[in-house]
Formats: sequence, C-alpha cells, structure tokens
Amino acid sequence: MKTTRIPHRSMYYGTPVALVCTQNSDGSENLTPMSSSWSLRDFVVLGLGCASQAMENLRHRPRLTVNLPSADMWESIERIAVFTGKNPVPDHKATHFSYCRDKFEAAGLTRLTSTEGGPSRVAECPIQIEAVVNTVTDVSDNPEGFSVIIAKAVAMHAAVGILDETSGQIDPVKWDPLIFSYKTYHGVGSELGRMARVIRS
Ligand SMILES: Cc1cc2nc3c(=O)[nH]c(=O)nc-3n(C[C@H](O)[C@H](O)[C@H](O)COP(=O)(O)O)c2cc1C
Repeated sequence: MKTTRIPHRSMYYGTPVALVCTQNSDGSENLTPMSSSWSLRDFVVLGLGCASQAMENLRHRPRLTVNLPSADMWESIERIAVFTGKNPVPDHKATHFSYCRDKFEAAGLTRLTSTEGGPSRVAECPIQIEAVVNTVTDVSDNPEGFSVIIAKAVAMHAAVGILDETSGQIDPVKWDPLIFSYKTYHGVGSELGRMARVIRS
C-alpha cells in the first residue's frame, strides 16, 4: 500500500455521534451533539471543547446523559449542529454558530425523565446512558482547547427493539449507530464477522 503524509490537525477518523444532555445554572437543559467519545466497561470518555456550554455545565453540575442516536436520526443532529447553548457565543465560534436556548425543541427531540435524578434522556435515542463525571483533564484551557471527561455510567437504557430476545443484550445486527467521519454521517453497514472470544458482559 502506498501512503503519503497528510495534515493531522483534525483526525476525526469516524466515531459514534452522541447527544450529551447537561444542566444549565438556571435548571434548564442543554443538548450537545458530539462524536469524540468511547466507552470502557462502565465508563464513557468524552472530548468536549472548553468553550462549550456542556463543559461549563459539567464543571459545576457533574450529572449527564449520553444518548446514542441511530443512523436514521442524522437530520435531527444536523438541525442543531450550528447552535451553542452558550450566550453570548464565544468569539472564535461567532462566525459559524448562534445561540439556541432549547436544542431539544430545535432538533425535534423529546425529553425523557432520567431514573437517577440527572438531566433528561433523549426519548428517540435507542441507547441512553445516565452518568456522573469522574475526572476532567484540561488538554488546553484556551477557548479553542478541549477537555477529556471520564464519566461513570450509573444506568443504561436500551430500546427493546434493539435487544437480542434470548440474552437481553444489545443485538449488533439490530443496533445501527450513527457514525461521524470527516464531517459526514454514516451507518455501520452489514456485519462482516464475529469475534471468536466470548466477552463477559
Ligand atoms: C456530529 C457532530 C459531532 C461533534 N463532535 C464534537 C465533539 O466530539 N466535541 C466537541 O466539543 N464538539 C463537537 N461538536 C461540536 C459541538 O456540537 C458544538 O461546538 C456545539 O456548539 C457545542 O454545544 P454547546 O456549547 O451547547 O455545548 C460536534 C458537532 C456535531 C454536529
């Protein structure tokens, strides 16, 4: 395979989209589309811009929900892609973003009360994780910098329609996550094979 060196400033090589719900200081809620995220056992790791409303909220109120949309929901995410819950809009985002008070309404999505007392879940998302911030690492605290949040899941909810009827676990054939890769939205396509080793769940 022939390779060539390319710029590496933004290496968004394709990860699932998540809608992160956090609580604002006045008790209202903010919804943040993001994709720099992965899970490790019952923890989720999130990369969020320092200047985001989500990050401001999590520094003061550590509860959140991480809601995973299915691939067919991409247009709902796109409807709120140009918004921030931060008012005023930070200078470095001012040309591309505007303030939105209620991103649930703007996206056409529905609040669902969480079971553990944190911010709402997104009813339309087939996977909803309630979590609490464990650690925050500021990679850079300038306005364009970002923070890495490790949050511990305290509850997970899944649509019955994506579960394996025998095991009660998520069936990867039924679950079609929305993948964000180089500013484009994708589903995952069809199964290519199965891991031979059985993983304890
Ligand atoms: C599909 C998608 C993926 C995104 N991924 C991230 C991400 O991983 N981290 C991040 O900080 N912002 C990400 N963004 C941008 C934020 O949504 C954007 O900065 C937004 O204004 C933050 O909202 P908030 O300020 O209300 O929290 C993404 C946006 C979209 C539409």
